[in-house]
Amino acid sequence: HPRVFSGIQPTGDLHLGNYLGAIMNWVKMQETHECIFCIVDMHAITMKHDPKSLARATRELTAGLIASGVDPDKAILFHQSAVPMHGQLTWILDCVARIGWLDRMTQFKDKSGADKEGASAGLYVYPVLMAADILGYKATHVPVGEDQKQHLELARDIAEKFNRDFGVDLFPIPEPFIQGAATRVMSLRDGTAKMSKSDPSEMSRINMLDDGDTIMRKFKKAKTDADALPSEVAGLAARPEAANLVNIHAALSGQTAADVLREFGGQGFGVFKPALGELAVEKLAPIAERFRELKGDKKTLDGILHRGAQQANAIAEPILQEAKRAVGFLKG
Ligand code: TYM
Repeated sequence: HPRVFSGIQPTGDLHLGNYLGAIMNWVKMQETHECIFCIVDMHAITMKHDPKSLARATRELTAGLIASGVDPDKAILFHQSAVPMHGQLTWILDCVARIGWLDRMTQFKDKSGADKEGASAGLYVYPVLMAADILGYKATHVPVGEDQKQHLELARDIAEKFNRDFGVDLFPIPEPFIQGAATRVMSLRDGTAKMSKSDPSEMSRINMLDDGDTIMRKFKKAKTDADALPSEVAGLAARPEAANLVNIHAALSGQTAADVLREFGGQGFGVFKPALGELAVEKLAPIAERFRELKGDKKTLDGILHRGAQQANAIAEPILQEAKRAVGFLKG
């Protein structure tokens, strides 16, 4: 039984990387698959956070996802902390995952910085919570950006080890679904760094709620080399900034990078950047407008999350019971 699960953290603003790497695929898949989309507020407390901002960010992300096309009548949309399975299954999976596996996770190394000893234990087991998110719904497909690949491999390893250790066929092995022309959107200031909400430079990313002028300015100021665009994709190989802008164009216009270069090959950035900016404004302005209509309606947003949590819980609870039985816990 195919089932889609994916998650997103309520920290910082939604940016173009989230949209092109993940949310665009969510919106497509909700038309053809059973989909569960989760605002992972439990992941968001693994780093120092402000409780008031977290509550606000959770509602705003709900509005942002709906504005981006996630339809709570087609997909289940809810926040993680509202469904008890996530925490409970995480404990069981903590006892399946190996320290050696977690030690290899590059995100912990990046996010804990210089002070590993001072990082929260939650940050260390972050990928196990993520595995519980996925396995707790027996999800088969997980649409994410490229940066989540290592976490998905860990979730697969945990599912396999659980099934093997306890002699069951409980968890399907989830498939990462990393697709589109921009599965790894890079910073506009550095073609070798991922576009991310934690980059201190606002110029490094396009936020989904940026106004038209800001979007145009950020693309026009994006770092590039001085050459014209090549006419074939191979010509982008050693040009990460140019490749990034071409991929963004392709993802926004629903084409391949080759299509974009067929149109813009031989042109300089003086032509390409404004064209890209206009395309982005055309695609993002309606999303920002819809967001502004939705974001103040606390009651509606909370209602959507509440209903989503009940739907999610109805799927997760029996699977949690199966997992508890498999490890030998008596019924309560
Ligand atoms: P998060 O909140 O960092 O990002 C949400 C989604 O956006 C994608 N993404 C990108 N894609 C392309 N280019 C980029 N520059 C870029 N930046 C972000 C991410 O790959 C992700 O798909 N750990 C996850 C959340 C999570 C999750 C899950 C995902 C928790 N549990 C279970 C899938 C399944 C995270 O922090 O994503």
